[in-house]
Amino acid sequence: MKNASFGIIGLGVMGKSIAINALNKNISVAVYNRETTDEVHIAQTFAKVYSDKQVQGFSDIQAFVNALETPRKILLMVNAGKAVDQVIATLLPYLSAGDILLDGGNSHYKDTNKRILDLKKQHIHLLSVGISGGEEGALTGPSLMPGGDKESYLVVKKILEMIAAKDADKKPCCAYIGNDGSGHFVKMVHNGIEYGDMQLLAELYEVLSLTCSYNDIATIFRNWNQTELQSYLLEITADILTTKEGNTYVLDTILDKAGNKGTGSWSSIAAMELGVPTTIKTSAVYARYLSSLKEKRAQLAISKPHHPIEEIAIDVIKRAYKFTRLLNLHQGFELLRAASKTYEWQLQLAEICRIWSNGCIIKSAMLKQCMSILKEKDSLLDDETIIQQLTDLESDVKKGIQYALQYRLNIPCITAAYSYWLMMTTQRTSANMIQAQRDFFGAHTFQRVNDASQKQIHYHWKK
Ligand code: 6PG
Repeated sequence: MKNASFGIIGLGVMGKSIAINALNKNISVAVYNRETTDEVHIAQTFAKVYSDKQVQGFSDIQAFVNALETPRKILLMVNAGKAVDQVIATLLPYLSAGDILLDGGNSHYKDTNKRILDLKKQHIHLLSVGISGGEEGALTGPSLMPGGDKESYLVVKKILEMIAAKDADKKPCCAYIGNDGSGHFVKMVHNGIEYGDMQLLAELYEVLSLTCSYNDIATIFRNWNQTELQSYLLEITADILTTKEGNTYVLDTILDKAGNKGTGSWSSIAAMELGVPTTIKTSAVYARYLSSLKEKRAQLAISKPHHPIEEIAIDVIKRAYKFTRLLNLHQGFELLRAASKTYEWQLQLAEICRIWSNGCIIKSAMLKQCMSILKEKDSLLDDETIIQQLTDLESDVKKGIQYALQYRLNIPCITAAYSYWLMMTTQRTSANMIQAQRDFFGAHTFQRVNDASQKQIHYHWKK
């Protein structure tokens, strides 16, 4: 068989699906998977199953590398962290100058930056390729966020574009992101937004469960999904709500401890480092951590008030949903904007909206709206129509929050969105008190109002 044009290392759920996707696009592929104590010939077995396509399977790394045309293009689909370093170390002795590795996992962008520099010394290129879409997306077309050396990207562009999902104009949901680990950074922010959207839907489920059956909530969500609120996460949440095992809703059998693999927290840590308030996704991360304190929660549990439950207009909840989602996206874009400036990545936010418009977990109609705004404006809050929408929604958000709180329902993302909006639309906040306190105990200085020179002053508080 001719040398393969694309190599894939790691046949876990995502790696296997990408491999099948590539083979379905007539890309010749060599796959490698290490042997484990439980399983041998994983890659060879895969190649046998797809023997009608151009695929070769290896458990010998040297043979795998030799089966690839040069410059080699090798996608690493292994768990983020040590495994990436191990695979790179195993590969290195067999690679040649100019070969291109693509890290398709959820690696931390700072690890990727370091790996890029290390590999550069050996004339090997590493691209940071954010991949979103879960198993189904990987198989049928994921959203791809490739970053790193632009010339290397151009070498793999065609293959990535063939694999990627297509947007409404049939353009690939794949575009060059920027230098270094920017691809992984953008994917990390995608995941932060994903955490916010997921927690928000969980909050709506909790609020609506007061007065509605699961079937009713699913119907409400499906109706919303026909509107500007359409999103993949909304769609699957409706499906989850109606899934039964025998007579029992599967949802009711699931322990209320949310897991995480770290990308949501990394997104919040990056936001903290860059001084960007991404309060909604950070509240979602904390909600997962709090959920994990199950035993303590059980000890401290207070029963919900028994007073009669009032109905709330579904439209009020719908508007709180829209409000929070808009601000969740806005905060994500602000984080990207700050990172772009600090790391000089020249991120194209409208293009990122476009490649998130299909294939990925946060794909939604709202991203299309954001795309047209971010083509013209730097920020969603620079846009009059967005400001007007948020302003119009505010009173219902407040109503929704008041309603939920009277029944002791947890709505951290909705309240975070509302607080953010309150702060952002308040000319004079209470931060003067913080400055006074800082100056009082630590002589940290402050600026006076209406002082054009913006001089930092220390006041002698204790006379
Ligand atoms: C995707 C997903 C995927 C996964 C994350 C988050 O875009 O396909 O974001 O990457 O969902 O790993 O997982 P956790 O919820 O476990 O942190």
